[in-house]
Amino acid sequence: KNVAVIFGSKSVEHEISIITANQILNAIDRNKYNVIPVYINKDGDWYTGSVLEKIENFKNLNLIEKKAKKINQFKKKNSKLLLKTNFKTYEIDLCILATHGTYGEDGSLQGFCEMFDIPYTGSGILSSAIAMDKVLTKLILKENNIPVVDFKYITKQDWDSSYDKFIETCEKELGYPMYIKPARLGSSIGISKVYSKEEFITSAEVAFSFDNKILVERSIENAKELNCAVLGYKQPIVSEIEEIIKQKEFFDFKEKYINKGKKFSNHKIPAELDENIKQEIIKLAVKTFKSLDCYGNIRIDFLYKDKIYVNEVNTIPGAMAFYLWQASGITFTHLIDNLINIAEK
Ligand code: DAL
Ligand code: MG
Repeated sequence: KNVAVIFGSKSVEHEISIITANQILNAIDRNKYNVIPVYINKDGDWYTGSVLEKIENFKNLNLIEKKAKKINQFKKKNSKLLLKTNFKTYEIDLCILATHGTYGEDGSLQGFCEMFDIPYTGSGILSSAIAMDKVLTKLILKENNIPVVDFKYITKQDWDSSYDKFIETCEKELGYPMYIKPARLGSSIGISKVYSKEEFITSAEVAFSFDNKILVERSIENAKELNCAVLGYKQPIVSEIEEIIKQKEFFDFKEKYINKGKKFSNHKIPAELDENIKQEIIKLAVKTFKSLDCYGNIRIDFLYKDKIYVNEVNTIPGAMAFYLWQASGITFTHLIDNLINIAEK
C-alpha cells in the first residue's frame, strides 16, 4: 500500500507540522506501507522525494525545495491519487494528514482528498472546519450540553463599528481577566490575556491580524489544564489524561514548541485525578467527539477548576498525541496502523 504523509502547508503552524510528520515518518511500519513523504511549502507548492525523510535536518526550508522534487500534476485514477513530478509518478492509496491549522486541519486538505476519492486519516471536511473555529466549536458543544467557558465573539467589521459596546458587554458579562483569541488558529498563536480596556483593544488588534473573527473568554483563574485523546469512529476509545504543569500564566507558542524538548517535560501523564473526575472527563471526551462528528484521532483540551470545561478540540493534534496513546499502551506505530484502518472504513 502506498501511503503519502502530507505535511507543511500555508499555515502559521507549518513548522510544527514538520515535527509531527517527522515523528510519523520515524514511527510508521515500513514493512506494511510504502511511504511517500509529501511536503507543501508556505506558498502551497507540493514536493516529494526521499530527501523529505530527513526533514528535521533542514534549518533552511528553502533548501528543501531545491533538493526535493516538485509535484506538477495531480490526477485521479480509479481509487488512486497520482502525483507526478518530472521524474516519476507516485500512485497514492491513502493519505496521512500531518498538517496543522489552516490549509490542512481545517477541511481544505480533507476536501482535496474527497475530490480525488482517496481515503485520508482523521475527521471529515465539516468536522475539521468546525473544530478549527473555536467559536463554532463552542456553540455546538453548548448546544449539546457540554460545559464550555463563557465567551463572546465579534467579527472585524462589527469591531470597527462598535468595539466600545462590545468591550462593555464583555466587561459586564465575562469580567477581567479575559483571553482574546483569533477564532481559527492553533498553537496559542495570537492569544493574549488581558486585564484592562487598553490591553483588550491592543490584543484584539493582534488577534485580528490573524483572523477576521475573534473570541473572548472569561479566564478560569488557576484552572488545571488537562488533555486527552480520543480514537476511533463509532465506539471511540479515550487515552490517558495528561496534566500540563504550568510555570507561567499560559503556554505561548514559544514555550510549546520552540524551547525544544521542554514540550513533554511539562506534561504529567497520567494526571493525578480523583476517579470521578477522570470518569467525567472520559464521558465528556466521547460526547465531544460524537457531537462534532469526529473521526480518527483527536485531542481535547479541558480546563478544570470547580467543574470541567471542554476548551478546545484538535482534529490533527501535534505529534498525533502519540505520547497519550503510548501511556495507554498503544505504540505510535500501532496508532498509525489504527488511523489507517479507520481511514479505510
Ligand atoms: N495545534 C497544535 C498542533 C496542537 O494543539 O496540538
Ligand atoms: Mg490547537
